[in-house]
Amino acid sequence: MNYIIESQQESQRLEKQNALPQYSILEELKFLELDLNGKKILDAGCGTGTLTRTLAQNFHADISGCDASLERIQEAKILSKDSLSFFQADLTAMPLPENEYDVIIVRFVLEHTLSPHKIIHELTRILKPGGHLVVIDLDGLIFNLHHQDEQLGRQLDLLQKHLPIDLYIGRKLPRMLMEADLELSECHVQPMLFQGTELESEVENMRMRFFQCESMIKQIIGEDQFEIFTQSYTSEMRKAHAIFCNKFIVSGKKPGK
Ligand SMILES: C[S@@+](CC[C@H](N)C(=O)[O-])C[C@H]1O[C@@H](n2cnc3c(N)ncnc32)[C@H](O)[C@@H]1O
Repeated sequence: MNYIIESQQESQRLEKQNALPQYSILEELKFLELDLNGKKILDAGCGTGTLTRTLAQNFHADISGCDASLERIQEAKILSKDSLSFFQADLTAMPLPENEYDVIIVRFVLEHTLSPHKIIHELTRILKPGGHLVVIDLDGLIFNLHHQDEQLGRQLDLLQKHLPIDLYIGRKLPRMLMEADLELSECHVQPMLFQGTELESEVENMRMRFFQCESMIKQIIGEDQFEIFTQSYTSEMRKAHAIFCNKFIVSGKKPGK
């Protein structure tokens, strides 16, 4: 049940999401004190490669991206006009020797996977001593909504209890990096607030997220409840008028050097 979705709609969702100011990669990178110039960098779980391209446009570095989804990789290559290197790989078992990269950035991936610890350990293995692992993930996401719908509340309780993925991973990242024997070097929290037309874009983004995870949600709340759930959730988002989510930007250094 990992979040590896082979569908054109998911590529479109990622591109639209990254175009919203709340998901601005350049703003995220401003939080980091790392100098990325001259480094060997991996965008791990690169999706359609928006971060990979942003890095290439802003830094003189040796940059590549990888993802488990072949469709995402193909899309990333097309969008980058074949000017960047992308390869298919499972982050839980990287086909690479130790000590390969100076910096690895893993953005919006761990919150969707069943094995975040395994991925952190595997990415740490392929970092050079003194290299940095940067993790960017949300915290709370669907559970942040203030709603006044009892049935929706029961469905969200079920999801909170039974979802196999961790939507509260943001707050856990510092500890997870320390437990992987990385030295915590930076931890920032960026609040994301959606109002007006941006709220409408996030409503559409959320609706698409739900449809991408339809079978997982149906297994938890029931086949016949999915449509009711998505409709009441998006309707309550609009009624809330202001939606928020915290984005964690955390980095850890591999000891040595
Ligand atoms: C929400 S998308 C984020 C994509 C990109 N990092 C971004 O910020 O736009 C999550 C990506 O992680 C990839 N992914 C999930 N589990 C993975 C794994 N075990 N190995 C490699 N990629 C994985 C998915 O295929 C998907 O492209």
